[in-house]
Amino acid sequence: ESVSVDDLLADPVEKIQSVGLTPHPSIPHPRDVFEPARSNSFGIDLDDSRTLDDVADAVQAFEMPPAPAEASADQVADMITRAEAAAPAWAQAPVGVRAEALEKLADRMQDDMLPLVSLCVHEARKTYDDAVAEVREAIDFCRYYARRACQDFAPQDLPSVTGETNRLTLEGRGVFGCIAPWNFPLAIFTGQAVAAVVAGNAVIAKPAPQTPRIAARAVALAHACGIPADILQLAPGGAETGAALTGDPRVMGIAFTGSTRTAKAIQRTLAEDATRPIVPLIAETGGLNAMIVDSTALPEQVVQDVVTSAFLSAGQRCSALRLLLLQEDIYDRTITMLKGAMDTLIVGDPADPATDIGPVIDGDAWQRLETYRQSMKSRWVHHVAAPEAGNFIPPTLIRLDSPDDLEQEWFGPILHVATWKAGTLARTVEGVNARGYGLTMGLHSRIADVSEDVARWARVGNLYVNRSMTGAVVGSQPFGGERLSGTGPKAGGPHYLPMFAVERTVTVDT
Ligand code: NAD
Ligand code: ALA
Repeated sequence: ESVSVDDLLADPVEKIQSVGLTPHPSIPHPRDVFEPARSNSFGIDLDDSRTLDDVADAVQAFEMPPAPAEASADQVADMITRAEAAAPAWAQAPVGVRAEALEKLADRMQDDMLPLVSLCVHEARKTYDDAVAEVREAIDFCRYYARRACQDFAPQDLPSVTGETNRLTLEGRGVFGCIAPWNFPLAIFTGQAVAAVVAGNAVIAKPAPQTPRIAARAVALAHACGIPADILQLAPGGAETGAALTGDPRVMGIAFTGSTRTAKAIQRTLAEDATRPIVPLIAETGGLNAMIVDSTALPEQVVQDVVTSAFLSAGQRCSALRLLLLQEDIYDRTITMLKGAMDTLIVGDPADPATDIGPVIDGDAWQRLETYRQSMKSRWVHHVAAPEAGNFIPPTLIRLDSPDDLEQEWFGPILHVATWKAGTLARTVEGVNARGYGLTMGLHSRIADVSEDVARWARVGNLYVNRSMTGAVVGSQPFGGERLSGTGPKAGGPHYLPMFAVERTVTVDT
């Protein structure tokens, strides 16, 4: 069963206007959005003379370095002692000096694109597209925070009402702990660390235990670019290493990205010791992210954006689509097309440039996801072939009777679908809000009023209208959620850096 071009043209923009509504301005004519099947072979653009073949050669020839040793609790305590001693001088250094180190690091990562991409492919099992995007995002974070810091950390003279002078400054807090997840092992690890460093802190950065080599490489490059060794220290390890860091009262702030459960554990630790200073926790966590599609949406575009949002990166993005909510009238048509699109996906070895979807991160993740997937077998609408060995989860579409049947974030290429009835849009958005998470939401509608309503109703950090809901761009789409999805402020946004600093006002009577 296929959908013809005539079917796609059956609900044109004029139809929306004919009933007195305004078509969404970003909607092209259906004929303009036909695209060939998605494939890695034309997805990579390195902005320079390197080609996909160069990337493939580098990835194939790459030899994995040994993993750095885990840091014990005593070693973490020693790191904090060194960091505490180094922090004041770094905080007093001109912000331009700190920012320059980040700019140099960005240049260095650009030069080292191929080895960094190779590390991401081999250690984090990322596809080429994702690995290139990962390195670019790390570079973007360095450049964005370097430039933002020069603005945010310049002293400000404030108005005087009684004749005195008033000066406001931002200063590093001291020792900052940064704890990163494995799913953005370079971009998020680097983003957290350089934000804290450029704000004038001494940083202990703990990567996820699955991806210590990528982090070690980032820290080595940072040192080579002028960030002193005691100002950025690597603390490889898992939960115990993280707990040693968050539990030390000399640590004056934590930037954490990972699960909601761990964020809550850290929040408890920070509050436990009544004599400890009150310190900020910047937490960016998970989501139960929904995409709502109404009957005016463009089917081809919806299907492409669903595949990108739910299945690419093996669904291992916090922003990924977990729950597709289709208006009842378009369920059959959309699912028919979605099945076809899913069948074009190539699941396999990420070191093969033809692969669209690689494995999930490790055997534990595979076990959790596969057990859940099998438990829902009677509800499968569609699934895609995948290699049997090697932690591959076949991209799978699961039908739910009610959106409330999705109980938790499943961090893999598993998409749930449910329907909603015309006239119940507000209730549908409210139902999503009521789950308590607030990270991303997608909307596909060709009616401008609908996107304005949903933008008002949706309690999420990032709402994407008529596009995919992953891949936020640093500086353009500041990223992060609210409620169970995070504390804010948003990574890659203008309010991020001040959270890493204390504010001081000096008033001088003249
Ligand atoms: P996780 O919470 O298990 O681990 C994250 C980090 O916390 C790791 O470095 C881990 O070693 C450390 N950790 C674990 N227990 C700790 C403890 N008690 N004290 C201190 N540190 C501890 O999460 P994960 O499985 O690595 O990552 C996946 C999760 O991250 C998903 O829920 C995803 O949605 C979320 N995530 C969110 C964002 C965002 O920007 N909102 C981005 C990426 C991932
Ligand atoms: N910032 C990442 C994205 O937008 C998580 O997909």
